[in-house]
Parts: sequence; structure tokens; C-alpha cells
Amino acid sequence: MPNIEDVIKEALRIVTPSQDEVKAINSIALEIMHILERKLRELGLEAEVTLQGSIAHGTWLPGDRDIDVFLVFPRNDKYINLVKSGELVRDLAAAISEIGISWVMNYAQHPYLTLTYNGFNIDVVPCIKMRPGEKPITAADRTPLHTLYLRGRLSGLEGDVRLLKLMMKRINVYGAEIKVQGFSGYLTELITLAYGGFVNTIKAASRWIPFKVKITLEVPSKVNFNAPLVVIDPVDPGRNAAAAVSLDSMATFIAASRRFLRKPSMTFFTNNTKPLSALQVRNIPTLIIYGEYPKDYVEDIVWGQLRRIASTIWNTVSSSGFKPIDIGLYTPQDNYIVVMLTVEEPELPEYEVHMGPLVWTDEAEAFIEKYINASNVVGPFIRDGRWFVIRPRGIRSIKEAVVKGLKAVRGGVVKDSLLKGQVILINDAAQVNELPVELRDIALAFMSKRPHWLT
Ligand code: UTP
Ligand code: MN
Repeated sequence: MPNIEDVIKEALRIVTPSQDEVKAINSIALEIMHILERKLRELGLEAEVTLQGSIAHGTWLPGDRDIDVFLVFPRNDKYINLVKSGELVRDLAAAISEIGISWVMNYAQHPYLTLTYNGFNIDVVPCIKMRPGEKPITAADRTPLHTLYLRGRLSGLEGDVRLLKLMMKRINVYGAEIKVQGFSGYLTELITLAYGGFVNTIKAASRWIPFKVKITLEVPSKVNFNAPLVVIDPVDPGRNAAAAVSLDSMATFIAASRRFLRKPSMTFFTNNTKPLSALQVRNIPTLIIYGEYPKDYVEDIVWGQLRRIASTIWNTVSSSGFKPIDIGLYTPQDNYIVVMLTVEEPELPEYEVHMGPLVWTDEAEAFIEKYINASNVVGPFIRDGRWFVIRPRGIRSIKEAVVKGLKAVRGGVVKDSLLKGQVILINDAAQVNELPVELRDIALAFMSKRPHWLT
């Protein structure tokens, strides 16, 4: 078995960008910042153009093409309105178009631009100046303070942050977006800083217990957060920087940390796990519903709807008498929307036992009247002081139950797409061949019921 030092040495080679890449990314960032400064001046707007995020912190992963540039505007009503309304970003976009740089408008809490420049995607996010201790006006205002806080403190730990980010990517817990509900870049930096490096972070996480971890780097917070993981934001003690982390993301990171310490391996840093073949997968009944990905909708909207749909399907299926085992959500290459549901039995028996009232209550007579003359009902009979009947089941197939659940969801483009899509019950793993090619490996991985890093 490889020892932990060797694995980390090898992983560090993967996560450390070359000198050329460092130079290239920094010079592109400087170029675009100069262009933005000039355009803002021409528009008569007063702003500091600043580099933020992982490029500023020296913690991006090699091959990343994303640069975060924040425009910091004075804290007054004029700029607050211009930023919040999106007017400022629209004017800037028009000015940028004039010099032939292409862009798209994105919407988070307020609009921002993503420019395409020399093969890089540059997020240009306006925000309002926030001094330490002040309340943020927009959600983006804390970012420059984050960078200020990390400057100096994080130096020497960049490689450690990169290792942590890559491992989290491989186990699917990197990113605070609704799709992942995991660890943001800033959070990985805070945790690495708090524990003093990658290995120490892994060791600490291997002992984490959800809802019992509260990490404080500076001022303790008076706020009581109810979240699996609490990491007080050192620039705003009223905020939990780990608020996005779901129980399962935290649990996955705990489990992977424990595994990595027992069995250090490059599996946690590389992407070369071979897809499973149908012969390696047991035949556990799995229903697969897929539809077209709704283009023109932002990921957080699609995934917000998808997560709500999943919980409605789960509830409908359980209350119809099925035993759901696991549900998985996927949007491969943003081409499909996929829901996978593993169940104990995809087909329920013809009859079900239906519990009635206690025999000495007022409801008893109504129950008897309802069923006494009903054809195809057996009973009523008394058991443990109650009336019961055996009656035909409303829904017997998992397919019907899932469609019923889906129809019960309140509107939404994801619901529509799934209802227009396909529903396939897989009883035998070889049936994955009935799925579109892009879904087969995902279906087999889901049916294997084991994280890919658990080797
Ligand atoms: P990123 O998501 O790009 O994170 O946000 P990052 O730290 O650069 O990490 P990677 O390596 O690219 O994955 C950049 C900055 O923007 C702020 C965060 O504070 C982060 O420092 N941000 C991000 C927001 O203010 N709001 C958001 O919704 C997302
Ligand atoms: Mn970034």
C-alpha cells in the first residue's frame, strides 16, 4: 500500500500549475482589468477593479479557465441602485461589445457579466464597498474582505488548499451551488487555514460529527447556527461560511477522509476509475426517468426544482406502499435531466391491508358502512381493537407511483421536461442498453450503490 507522504507528493504534482500557466493567467487577468478600468473611466464610473477568488489567492486548480474580477463601487445610493438594478452592468456590457469582447449576462443576487477573453471566462461582478464590521449591502460585498483576510495568512498553504479542492471535486462535494450543496472555494481555504494544512484537515474531518463542529478562526460568534457544519466567516461573524454544506456532503467528506487515512491512494485525486460493466452490477430494481435539459435556465433554478421533485417523488412512492432505497439526480453535460430511484419491489401485490378506526369510536360505523357492501373488498375484520379491510391497491407499479408524484409537483420547467420524457424500469443491469448512451455509465454507477472512491 502506498504511504500517505508518497501519495501526497504525487498528488501535489497534479495540482500545482506550471510556471507558464501562472504567468499566462496572471497576465490575462491584468490585461482584462486594465480594459475594465479604462471602460469604467470612460463611462464616468468610480470603481476599484480588483482580482478575487482562487486566482487572487493562488489556489486555483491547473486547467481552470475562470478568473474572478470584482468591481468595488462607493457605498452610496447612486451606486447601490446602479448595481442592484443591473443598469451598471448593462452599460459596461455595451462598452465591452464595442471593443469586440463577447460576454453573457448572468444573474445571481444581482446581475454580473461573464466575458470570454483569450480562452478564459472572466466573471465581472459589481459590488459595494464594505469596511470590516459593516453590514454587506449585496451578497458579493464580502468577497474583497475575504481576499484581504486570506492575504498573508494563507501563504505557504496554497498547495494544501489545492489538494483539498481536488479531493473534494473527486468525491463530488466541491461547490456551494444547489447542484452540489458542498464546500465553496473560500470554505476550503478557511478549513485548511484553521487546521494548518491538508493532512491535518483530513485528520480533523475524520473525527467530525455533523451538527457538532464549529470552527472559529477569529471572533467567536454569538449566533447559534443549526447546520451540519459551522465555520464562522472571520470577516462577518454573523455568517456561517459552511451554510451550503448538506449533511450528505459533509458525511461523504468525513467518510472519504477516514478512508484516505486508512488506505491512502491516488483514487482520491484522479479521474481514471473505469466505468462499470453490467456484469459487475447486481440486479436491484431501478426506475429511471429522464427528459431534456431545459436550455436557457440557470443551474440553480433547474437543480432547485429537481431537488423538490425528488422529495415529492420519494414521499408519494413511500405513501403508496413502496420501499424506496435511494434516489439519485443527474444532469449529464446539461443535456438531460435524470432521476434514478432504487426500490425494494417495483410491483406491489394486488391487495393491501387498510387500517380503520378503533371499534369504540364514532368513526367506526362510517367505516363499516363504507366497506360492507363494497365488492372486491375483504372484511371488515377486527384486530387489536381496530377495524381493518383488505382492499385492492390503487397503484401497483412503481412507474405509476412516480408519475403520480411528478404530477403532484407544483409547476416548473423541470417537471414538464420529465413528464414529456421517458420512464424505464430496469430489473436487469443489462437493460441499461435501452438508455441513451450518455446515461448508461451513470445508471450502472448508481445501481452499484457504492461511491467510486471506495475501492
Ligand atoms: P468562486 O466560486 O469562483 O470560488 O468565487 P473560488 O474561491 O475562486 O474557487 P475556484 O477555485 O474558482 O473554484 C469567487 C469569489 O466570489 C465570491 C466568493 O467569495 C469567492 O471568493 N462569490 C462566489 C460570491 O460572492 N457569491 C457567489 O455566489 C459565489
Ligand atoms: Mn473562481
